[in-house]
Amino acid sequence: MPVREIVRLGHPALREAARPVAAEEISGEAIQGLIDDLIDTMRAGGGVGLAAPQIGVGQQVFVYAAPESEPEIPLRVIVNPLLEPGGGELVYEWEGCLSIPDLRGLVPRHQEVRVRATGRDGEALEFDARGFEARILQHEFDHLNGVVFLDRMRDLKSLAFEAEWERFLGTASRSARAVE
Ligand code: NI
Repeated sequence: MPVREIVRLGHPALREAARPVAAEEISGEAIQGLIDDLIDTMRAGGGVGLAAPQIGVGQQVFVYAAPESEPEIPLRVIVNPLLEPGGGELVYEWEGCLSIPDLRGLVPRHQEVRVRATGRDGEALEFDARGFEARILQHEFDHLNGVVFLDRMRDLKSLAFEAEWERFLGTASRSARAVE
Protein backbone atom coordinates (compact mmCIF):
# COMPACT_ATOMS: atom_id res chain seq x y z
CA MET A 1 0.00 0.00 0.00
CA PRO A 2 1.51 3.28 -1.01
CA VAL A 3 2.21 6.18 1.27
CA ARG A 4 0.52 9.15 -0.37
CA GLU A 5 1.63 12.75 -0.55
CA ILE A 6 0.08 14.89 2.17
CA VAL A 7 -1.19 18.16 0.77
CA ARG A 8 -0.40 21.35 2.62
CA LEU A 9 -2.31 24.48 3.48
CA GLY A 10 -3.05 26.32 0.25
CA HIS A 11 -4.17 23.16 -1.55
CA PRO A 12 -7.87 23.63 -2.35
CA ALA A 13 -8.74 20.10 -1.13
CA LEU A 14 -8.18 21.32 2.45
CA ARG A 15 -10.82 24.02 2.04
CA GLU A 16 -13.60 22.08 0.35
CA ALA A 17 -16.39 20.06 1.95
CA ALA A 18 -15.84 16.34 1.37
CA ARG A 19 -18.56 14.20 -0.20
CA PRO A 20 -20.23 11.37 1.70
CA VAL A 21 -19.31 7.85 0.60
CA ALA A 22 -22.26 5.91 -0.85
CA ALA A 23 -23.05 2.76 1.17
CA GLU A 24 -22.43 0.49 -1.81
CA GLU A 25 -19.01 2.06 -2.42
CA ILE A 26 -17.52 1.26 0.98
CA SER A 27 -16.60 -2.35 0.24
CA GLY A 28 -15.19 -1.41 -3.18
CA GLU A 29 -11.53 -1.31 -4.08
CA ALA A 30 -11.36 2.47 -4.30
CA ILE A 31 -12.53 3.17 -0.75
CA GLN A 32 -10.77 0.15 0.80
CA GLY A 33 -7.55 1.22 -0.93
CA LEU A 34 -8.07 4.81 0.23
CA ILE A 35 -8.46 3.59 3.83
CA ASP A 36 -5.28 1.51 3.64
CA ASP A 37 -3.39 4.45 2.14
CA LEU A 38 -4.65 6.79 4.87
CA ILE A 39 -3.46 4.39 7.57
CA ASP A 40 -0.03 3.94 5.97
CA THR A 41 0.38 7.66 5.30
CA MET A 42 -0.67 8.58 8.85
CA ARG A 43 1.85 6.15 10.31
CA ALA A 44 4.62 7.24 7.95
CA GLY A 45 3.98 10.86 8.91
CA GLY A 46 3.97 10.10 12.61
CA GLY A 47 0.46 11.50 13.01
CA VAL A 48 -2.43 10.38 15.22
CA GLY A 49 -5.05 11.06 12.56
CA LEU A 50 -5.42 11.68 8.85
CA ALA A 51 -8.42 12.69 6.76
CA ALA A 52 -8.95 11.96 3.06
CA PRO A 53 -8.81 15.65 2.01
CA GLN A 54 -5.25 15.71 3.39
CA ILE A 55 -4.22 13.40 0.55
CA GLY A 56 -6.32 15.36 -1.90
CA VAL A 57 -9.38 13.10 -1.84
CA GLY A 58 -12.70 14.86 -1.23
CA GLN A 59 -14.54 12.03 0.50
CA GLN A 60 -15.76 11.73 4.07
CA VAL A 61 -13.20 9.28 5.43
CA PHE A 62 -10.63 9.60 8.17
CA VAL A 63 -8.51 7.32 10.31
CA TYR A 64 -6.91 7.80 13.69
CA ALA A 65 -4.87 5.91 16.24
CA ALA A 66 -2.81 6.94 19.24
CA PRO A 67 -1.14 3.77 20.48
CA GLU A 68 1.28 5.71 22.66
CA SER A 69 -1.28 7.84 24.43
CA GLU A 70 -2.65 7.21 27.88
CA PRO A 71 -5.18 5.64 27.62
CA GLU A 72 -4.25 4.00 24.36
CA ILE A 73 -6.51 4.86 21.43
CA PRO A 74 -6.77 1.96 18.97
CA LEU A 75 -6.98 2.35 15.21
CA ARG A 76 -10.36 3.54 14.01
CA VAL A 77 -11.68 4.01 10.50
CA ILE A 78 -14.47 6.56 10.27
CA VAL A 79 -16.70 7.05 7.21
CA ASN A 80 -19.50 9.64 6.87
CA PRO A 81 -19.36 10.84 10.49
CA LEU A 82 -21.76 12.99 12.42
CA LEU A 83 -20.43 14.54 15.62
CA GLU A 84 -22.59 15.70 18.47
CA PRO A 85 -20.69 17.65 21.11
CA GLY A 86 -21.30 16.97 24.78
CA GLY A 87 -21.93 19.77 27.22
CA GLY A 88 -19.41 21.38 29.45
CA GLU A 89 -16.61 23.82 29.01
CA LEU A 90 -14.26 23.82 26.07
CA VAL A 91 -10.75 22.64 26.83
CA TYR A 92 -7.58 24.14 25.34
CA GLU A 93 -4.75 21.85 24.24
CA TRP A 94 -1.97 22.01 21.72
CA GLU A 95 -2.61 20.79 18.21
CA GLY A 96 -0.60 20.42 15.07
CA CYS A 97 -1.49 19.17 11.61
CA LEU A 98 0.40 17.16 9.01
CA SER A 99 -0.95 19.63 6.43
CA ILE A 100 0.42 22.60 8.38
CA PRO A 101 3.87 21.26 9.19
CA ASP A 102 6.02 22.54 12.02
CA LEU A 103 3.36 24.62 13.75
CA ARG A 104 1.54 24.16 17.03
CA GLY A 105 -1.27 26.15 18.56
CA LEU A 106 -3.75 26.06 21.43
CA VAL A 107 -7.18 25.00 20.24
CA PRO A 108 -10.43 24.90 22.23
CA ARG A 109 -12.44 21.68 21.80
CA HIS A 110 -15.37 19.92 23.39
CA GLN A 111 -14.34 17.41 26.04
CA GLU A 112 -16.83 14.82 24.83
CA VAL A 113 -18.42 13.94 21.54
CA ARG A 114 -20.93 11.36 20.43
CA VAL A 115 -19.99 9.86 17.08
CA ARG A 116 -22.32 8.32 14.56
CA ALA A 117 -20.56 6.97 11.50
CA THR A 118 -19.95 3.97 9.31
CA GLY A 119 -16.95 1.66 9.75
CA ARG A 120 -14.77 0.16 7.03
CA ASP A 121 -16.94 -2.96 6.76
CA GLY A 122 -20.06 -0.86 6.32
CA GLU A 123 -21.12 -1.38 9.94
CA ALA A 124 -22.93 1.34 11.85
CA LEU A 125 -20.78 2.93 14.55
CA GLU A 126 -22.09 4.83 17.52
CA PHE A 127 -19.85 5.67 20.44
CA ASP A 128 -18.89 8.37 22.88
CA ALA A 129 -15.35 9.66 23.03
CA ARG A 130 -13.72 12.00 25.49
CA GLY A 131 -10.44 13.72 26.15
CA PHE A 132 -7.69 13.26 23.59
CA GLU A 133 -9.81 10.95 21.42
CA ALA A 134 -12.63 13.51 21.32
CA ARG A 135 -10.07 16.13 20.29
CA ILE A 136 -8.71 13.97 17.46
CA LEU A 137 -12.26 13.31 16.24
CA GLN A 138 -13.09 17.03 16.17
CA HIS A 139 -9.84 17.88 14.37
CA GLU A 140 -10.34 15.20 11.69
CA PHE A 141 -14.05 15.92 11.34
CA ASP A 142 -13.15 19.55 10.66
CA HIS A 143 -10.93 18.42 7.77
CA LEU A 144 -14.02 16.91 6.11
CA ASN A 145 -15.60 20.36 6.22
CA GLY A 146 -12.69 22.41 4.92
CA VAL A 147 -11.72 23.62 8.40
CA VAL A 148 -8.21 23.51 9.88
CA PHE A 149 -7.09 24.01 13.48
CA LEU A 150 -5.91 27.56 12.79
CA ASP A 151 -9.55 28.50 12.14
CA ARG A 152 -10.48 27.23 15.60
CA MET A 153 -7.81 29.12 17.51
CA ARG A 154 -9.16 31.93 19.64
CA ASP A 155 -5.80 33.64 19.97
CA LEU A 156 -3.04 33.30 17.40
CA LYS A 157 -0.49 34.39 19.98
CA SER A 158 0.00 30.77 21.01
CA LEU A 159 1.01 29.79 17.46
CA ALA A 160 4.57 28.49 17.56
CA PHE A 161 7.05 26.58 15.47
CA GLU A 162 7.64 23.10 16.81
CA ALA A 163 11.28 23.64 17.69
CA GLU A 164 10.48 26.82 19.65
CA TRP A 165 7.44 25.13 21.20
CA GLU A 166 9.66 22.31 22.45
CA ARG A 167 12.20 24.77 23.76
CA PHE A 168 9.96 27.38 25.37
CA LEU A 169 6.43 26.03 25.75
CA GLY A 170 6.30 22.24 25.66
CA THR A 171 7.51 21.55 29.15
CA ALA A 172 5.27 24.24 30.59
CA SER A 173 2.12 22.91 28.97
CA ARG A 174 -0.22 20.48 30.65
CA SER A 175 0.17 18.08 27.79
CA ALA A 176 2.82 17.48 25.19
CA ARG A 177 0.37 15.59 23.01
CA ALA A 178 -0.62 17.15 19.78
CA VAL A 179 -3.18 16.16 17.21
CA GLU A 180 -2.17 15.84 13.60
NI1 NI B 1 -4.92 18.01 10.56
